[in-house]
Amino acid sequence: MVAGRRRRRLAAALIVASVASCDDAGDWSNRDRRILQTLTLTHLGPPPADPSNRFSTDPRAIRLGKKLFFDRRLSGDGQRSCATCHQPDKAFADGLARPAGTGPGGRNTPTVIGAAHGQWFYWDGRRDSLWSQALIPFEAAKEMGGSRVAVIHTIAKDPDYRAQFSALIGALPDDRWLDRLPAQAGPYGDPATQAAWHSMPLPDRRRVDRLYAVVGKAIAAYERTLTLEPGPLDRFVDALAERRRSDAHRHLTPSQRRGLALFISDRTRCLRCHNGPRLTNDGFHNIGTGKLEGAGALDFGRVFGLRAFLIDEFNCRGVHSDASADDCHQLRFLNRKDVDHMTGAFKVPSLRLVSKTAPYFHDGRFETLDQVVRFYNAPAPTADGVELAPIGLNDQEIADLVSFLTIL
Ligand code: HEC
Ligand code: HEC
Repeated sequence: MVAGRRRRRLAAALIVASVASCDDAGDWSNRDRRILQTLTLTHLGPPPADPSNRFSTDPRAIRLGKKLFFDRRLSGDGQRSCATCHQPDKAFADGLARPAGTGPGGRNTPTVIGAAHGQWFYWDGRRDSLWSQALIPFEAAKEMGGSRVAVIHTIAKDPDYRAQFSALIGALPDDRWLDRLPAQAGPYGDPATQAAWHSMPLPDRRRVDRLYAVVGKAIAAYERTLTLEPGPLDRFVDALAERRRSDAHRHLTPSQRRGLALFISDRTRCLRCHNGPRLTNDGFHNIGTGKLEGAGALDFGRVFGLRAFLIDEFNCRGVHSDASADDCHQLRFLNRKDVDHMTGAFKVPSLRLVSKTAPYFHDGRFETLDQVVRFYNAPAPTADGVELAPIGLNDQEIADLVSFLTIL
């Protein structure tokens, strides 16, 4: 025990020393260098293959998925597409606290760039693949407000879509079958849409779902091409690794370097959750941001996301998945006993591009990174299970940490 304490004290001393030395924009210890190496995009590689999506790297699916992503005709009122909220010139987010019209209880729009590296999708991780995620917005009342049968009709009536789909999966169903389907039908949406869906014979519903899954898989193939580009942090770390120190230091200002040193220090402990090249551990943590009681819309986060994922018919072990059960890591390694601990936990977001995706947190509560860092510096008095402790940064240190976050 004494040895443990001594080791911890030694570690603390080392960290103080490394932070102090960075203050004069000088040296990085071997420990720092090792950590920095783990943060660079140089080590990220392409997004992992998704065994549940046999089209995930198919160039024909990528082309098709891009058209679907930007196609407003696939929404209920013909006015909205995925790109309404995931706008290319806003880093594939929308710059709003919550999408217009979603109101309290709605969530903030995350970027899609680099998402293909993730394990879980949505702030509560209620989907385990990009393609199963992509099937939700079409039918969500506050997103695109359409239905899966309407999506299939629109696709079948467009000769270009017909040709592209046929190239991927063979001929589309003939017009006689399509004419038999209601105009709007799906398991979500208004009561009429749901009733129309449940009045359809089961084999027809199955057939629609099979086609609908291909829509999601093509969109996912396109999203997989939205990759992260190396920036100042990566150039800095790579130059440092090659012992080109003065070159390295050209990429970051002294304030950004001090912020980086703080970010990787045991004082802030940001790395506990924000680590690796995307600065996320892809896990779920409770930092006291859930809304678990009181008036207004509640948000329990992961505890419900996990339950929703387990019953999702489009998850990795569902009939529309192309994976074998062994390939479904999220399901294989899931700790089902842990569900209740996940009350108030949200997905740790990637911090890449964070300067372009304000406002912040699952509900968009903070407009600026300065507000976010001040939140971490003095978190609300801890309720049950909150995993943060006060840090005690001064104003200069807060400014340094913020200026570091802006280079990601
Ligand atoms: C009305 C705005 C809106 C539209 C339209 C929309 N999204 Fe989103 N998107 C969001 C919001 C808000 C979230 C987060 C919701 C949550 O976590 O509960 C999200 C989450 C996502 C995520 C998860 C990212 C992550 O890292 O967890 C992906 C991927 C995504 N959307 C892709 C799409 C696709 C594909 C479409 C079209 C089929 C689409 N979105 C349509 C607002 C929108
Ligand atoms: C215990 C895990 C944990 C630690 C430690 C942690 N974070 Fe986070 N971080 C999260 C979670 C979870 C969220 C999302 C919370 C939400 O949306 O309600 C988040 C969100 C953020 C966001 C907002 C990103 C966005 O797109 O909305 C920023 C910026 C951020 N963290 C920076 C930091 C910094 C800087 C530190 C160190 C001072 C830190 N975090 C420490 C878990 C953590």
